[in-house]
Amino acid sequence: MKIKNTYSAEETELLGYELGLLLKDERKVVILLDGELGAGKTTFTKGIAKGIGITQIVNSPTFTIMKKYLSADRMKTMYHLDLYRLDHVGNDFDLEEYIDGLGIIVVEWPFKVEEFLPTDYLLVKIEKISDTERKFIMQCEGIPCKRAVQFI
Ligand SMILES: Nc1ncnc2c1ncn2[C@@H]1O[C@H](COP(=O)(O)OP(=O)(O)O)[C@@H](O)[C@H]1O
Ligand SMILES: [Mg+2]
Repeated sequence: MKIKNTYSAEETELLGYELGLLLKDERKVVILLDGELGAGKTTFTKGIAKGIGITQIVNSPTFTIMKKYLSADRMKTMYHLDLYRLDHVGNDFDLEEYIDGLGIIVVEWPFKVEEFLPTDYLLVKIEKISDTERKFIMQCEGIPCKRAVQFI
């Protein structure tokens, strides 16, 4: 487990960028972002995208559930899911239905589908300490994120 605090949105984006750099050569990593509205999940995701070489602007996919981004060299993919508006998943939510290849998969509001989450993931809990301070608690389950959490 690794704990980091940030003191501005820019610092949160930078932390995401460093994580993206550390993960960009992994074949597949699922990153679960847990935290209330305004915690900084999307800000952190923007940084991850930059770290893996994505130059497109990353916006919250609130109305589409999933947005897919390719790096400028088309070698890396980031899938960004926001499950905030997902209501009735019943018993058939399948993350793989949204993912058509390998890459970095970032999920906001992952506990909406708690029983359907994969066994390997990087859980990032973001706690709002004040208007500008955030606490990031990073916990890796499985192999793909081990090195990143060690070195970040
Ligand atoms: N340390 C910080 N890290 C991230 N965001 C911060 C921080 N301090 C203030 N903010 C503000 O909090 C908001 C975070 O929004 P966003 O990333 O969309 O959150 P979420 O996706 O979790 O709802 C932004 O308005 C940002 O400017
Ligand atoms: Mg968001």
